[in-house]
Amino acid sequence: MSTNLEHLWMPFSANRGFKAEPRLMNEAKGMYYKKLDGTKVLDGTAGLWCCNAGHGNDKIVKAIQDQAGKLDFAPSFQMGHPLAFEAAEKLLELAPNNDFQYAFFTNSGSEAVDTALKIALGYQQHRGNTDKTILVGRERAYHGVGFGGISVGGLPMNKKHFPLLENVDHICSTHNLEKNAFSKGQPEWGKELADDLLRVIEKHGADKIAAFITEPLAGSTGVLVPPKGYLERVRDICTKHDILLIFDEVITGFGRLGTPFAAQYFNVEPDLITCAKGLTSGTIPMGAVLVKKEIYDAYQDGDAKAIDLFHGYTYSAHPMASAALIASLEVYTDDGLFEQASIMSSYWEDALHSLKGTDHIIDIRNLGLVAGIEMESREGKPGSRGYDVFTDGFHNHNLLLRITGDTLALSPPLIAKKEHIDQIVEILKNIIPKH
Ligand SMILES: Cc1ncc(COP(=O)(O)O)c(C=O)c1O
Repeated sequence: MSTNLEHLWMPFSANRGFKAEPRLMNEAKGMYYKKLDGTKVLDGTAGLWCCNAGHGNDKIVKAIQDQAGKLDFAPSFQMGHPLAFEAAEKLLELAPNNDFQYAFFTNSGSEAVDTALKIALGYQQHRGNTDKTILVGRERAYHGVGFGGISVGGLPMNKKHFPLLENVDHICSTHNLEKNAFSKGQPEWGKELADDLLRVIEKHGADKIAAFITEPLAGSTGVLVPPKGYLERVRDICTKHDILLIFDEVITGFGRLGTPFAAQYFNVEPDLITCAKGLTSGTIPMGAVLVKKEIYDAYQDGDAKAIDLFHGYTYSAHPMASAALIASLEVYTDDGLFEQASIMSSYWEDALHSLKGTDHIIDIRNLGLVAGIEMESREGKPGSRGYDVFTDGFHNHNLLLRITGDTLALSPPLIAKKEHIDQIVEILKNIIPKH
């Protein structure tokens, strides 16, 4: 197949580097992608943290195919189709508790984040807390690429060149190699870092702060596992100061930690949850915000014939996405994939930590079926070692990895077996020292 690669402007990519040495995949089944020549590539990253049920799951594929032939599209504003309502109900069955009674659908994690931020801000206005207009995020956080998401996010490169929301502040990140390098699971040190939220509260006044958003376990920024007690402390502070707590679970949702959401894993309950990716096992773009009844109810104070939230997307709860959601959640439940991830997580932890002592590795972090392997940066060339390991892995060892700078992020589909984990670790043992 000869493909002209020039005209696609690829997202978050080194376009010229890619086009000089392309990495293309054309098919996928189970734990493997296939290159154009048919070579199998082991998926160490569930695509992009999303194909939790593995690739080409028959039940999910059939549900999408059937739905495509039945109803292509129904308007989402002031109209609906039954599957959208069923999708909301099914999704909420996975919520941490019965307070979560409403789901708002989007088409991506970024849209879910911006939707949640708007819902939080509007909620404070409806309650009469008209000064609560500040949003707080965390340094190094990734909340997608909308203007809201990059403003509360904490990655400088994602903000460069763009005007940001003004009413935003940040607390410090939890990353600390000196104290926590090579922690297995949640680090012992660092719960007091949650108190940085108190600093921000003191600076602005609690009566000015609408919400705090955080990834319970940060993925895209290089796998940052929350220290023991940290999220509990964040929850206490938010409750005490009447600040909404938003968990951005775009990566942690749908079994990544062996539970439906990280909220259940950590036993910490937020007020709003954003999700996407595993929501449809990556098959059809979709995101969602899970909303507590109290928040939804605050919006129901006007005329029943008036719009209650001036926000939404043409494709909110698209029929195909709704079908994919319902089928994906059924597969997760019927095949016991969350439990499987939970059972496999200790093998995963031991296997990954066996890489300790390998040249260049300065930290290994893990939880559930996620791991981050931080490599020492080359002098004056941050990111170049990560890029070389990533490309070597794909071209010469048929392993799909993900990099953030010099940190490898691993998150295989939840169907991964011990042999797949062994294969990943064996390849890494071989290639990391070479670079
Ligand atoms: C925590 C978090 N929030 C939001 C997003 C953005 O999701 P999307 O790329 O679907 O817009 C991501 C993507 O990786 C994410 O990890």
